[in-house]
Amino acid sequence: MADRSILMVVLAAGEGTRMRSALPKVLHQVAGRPLIAHVLAAAPAEAGLAVVVGPDHAAVTAEIARARPGARIFVQAERRGTAHAVLAAREAIAAGVDDILVVFGDTPLITASTLDSLRRPLAEGAAVVVLGFRAADPTGYGRLIVEGEALVAVREDADASEAERESNFCNAGVMALAGKTALSVLDKIGCANRKNEFYLTDAVAIARGMGLTCAAREADEDEVRGINTRAQLAEAETVMQTRLRLRAMEAGVTMIAPETVFLAADTTFGSDVVIEPYVVFGPKASVGDEAVIHSFSHVSEAAIGARASVGPFARLRPGTVLGEGARIGNFVETKAAEIEAGAKVNHLTYIGDARVGAGANIGAGTITCNYDGFSKSRTNIGPGAFIGSNSSLVAPVSIGANAYVGSGSVINRDVPADALAVERGEQTIKPGWAARFRALKTRHKGK
Ligand code: UD1
Ligand code: MG
Repeated sequence: MADRSILMVVLAAGEGTRMRSALPKVLHQVAGRPLIAHVLAAAPAEAGLAVVVGPDHAAVTAEIARARPGARIFVQAERRGTAHAVLAAREAIAAGVDDILVVFGDTPLITASTLDSLRRPLAEGAAVVVLGFRAADPTGYGRLIVEGEALVAVREDADASEAERESNFCNAGVMALAGKTALSVLDKIGCANRKNEFYLTDAVAIARGMGLTCAAREADEDEVRGINTRAQLAEAETVMQTRLRLRAMEAGVTMIAPETVFLAADTTFGSDVVIEPYVVFGPKASVGDEAVIHSFSHVSEAAIGARASVGPFARLRPGTVLGEGARIGNFVETKAAEIEAGAKVNHLTYIGDARVGAGANIGAGTITCNYDGFSKSRTNIGPGAFIGSNSSLVAPVSIGANAYVGSGSVINRDVPADALAVERGEQTIKPGWAARFRALKTRHKGK
C-alpha cells in the first residue's frame, strides 16, 4: 500500500456542548495532549491532512498548526452533518488521491495500524470501508447493517427500526473512501432524515446503489471511544494510561505499581529506569538510563539524566535539566534549572532560574530568590560549590566554583571561586544564663 497516495480528513467542527466547557471539545486533553493531536498523531506519515473546524475555532487551528504544520484547515461554517463536514474539504478531496480516511477529532484512542487496516479493502477495489465495533451499550450509535460478508448500509440510531436497534455492531465513525469515487458518492448524500443532517454514513447505501462494493472492519471498543462528556474523557484517559504504561514497561522501565503512575503521551524513557508508585509526568518529560524516580514526584517539561535520582516528593517543573547522576531529594522544587552531573539538592529547597554546577552540594532549605515581584533573575552556582543549609541566594548572583556559603546566609553579592561567604549575626554566649532563667521562672510560678 506504500504506493497509494492518501488524504486523511479529520472532522473537528463539533460543538461539544455536553462537555460544559469554554474550551472546544477537541482541545480537551488525554495524557497531556489535546484530543485532536492524538488523532493527528495516528495519521499515516505520508498522508496529506485536511482538518475541518468550526467557525470560531482559532485555538483549534493553532493546535493543529502546532501538531502537524502541514495540515490544511477547512472551515465548516454551518454544522449540517458529518457528510457536509467532509465536503467542507472538497478542494483537498478533488485534488485526487487513492485513499481517503475520514476520522473524527474526538476519538483519541484510534491507532495507526487500525487506520492502515481500513485501506486494505480499498486496495482490493472497495469504494467505502466502515470501521465497526461491538458496543457494550449501542445506544446513540449508527448500526452497521450486514448481509453475510457485505456491508449494505449504516442506519443512524434515530432512524433505525426496533430490529436494527437490537444489533450492537456499531459505527465507530472512521471511514475509508476510494478517492476516485468519493465525491460522486458524497455529492449524492441528502438530508431527508430525522435530524435533517447530511449523514456521512449514507455513503454506504449510496455506493451500493451505484454498484460499488462496501466493506466493514472491526476494532476494539477501547480504540474507538468518542468523547462527548467529561466522564468519557476520564474513561479514555484510563485506556490511554494503560497503553502508555505497557509501552514503557515493554521498553525496559520497571514500575512497581504501574496503575499509580501517570504518563504523558510524549514521555520518553531510557533503559532500566525505575519508577516507584505514585509518580505523575506532565508533558515533555524525558528520563535517562537507570534513573530512579521515587514515590510522589511530579515531573513536567523536564529532562532527567542517566542515573539521576529524583524524590520522593520532588517537583521538577518546566525547564529542569538534570545531569548524569544528579540527585534531587524530598520536598525540592526546581524550575528552569540546570543541575549538572553529580550535583546534589537533597532536601527542602527551591532552585529556580539557576544553574548548579557539576558536583555542587546544595544544603537543606536553600532558596534561590529569583523573583522580586516584577522580573526573574538568575543564580549561577559554580561546580563543586557548597551552599550551607537555610541560605537565601538573592538573584542575580553568582557563586564561584568550589566556594562555600555559610549556613543561614542571605547572599546578594557574587562570591568568588574558592571563597567563603557568611552573612549572619555574631554568635553570643552567656554562660549559665539558661539555668538562671529557669530558676527565676520557677520561683515566680511558685508564688
Ligand atoms: C456519528 C455517526 C454514527 C457513529 C458515531 C460514532 C454520522 C451521521 N453518525 O454519530 O454512525 O456511530 O458518530 O461516534 O456520521 N461533525 C462536524 N460537523 C458536523 C457534524 C459533525 O464536524 O456538521 C464532527 C463532530 O465534531 C464529531 C464528528 O463529526 O467529531 C461526529 O459528529 P457527532 O455529532 O458526534 O455524530 P454522532 O451523532 O455521534
Ligand atoms: Mg459523537
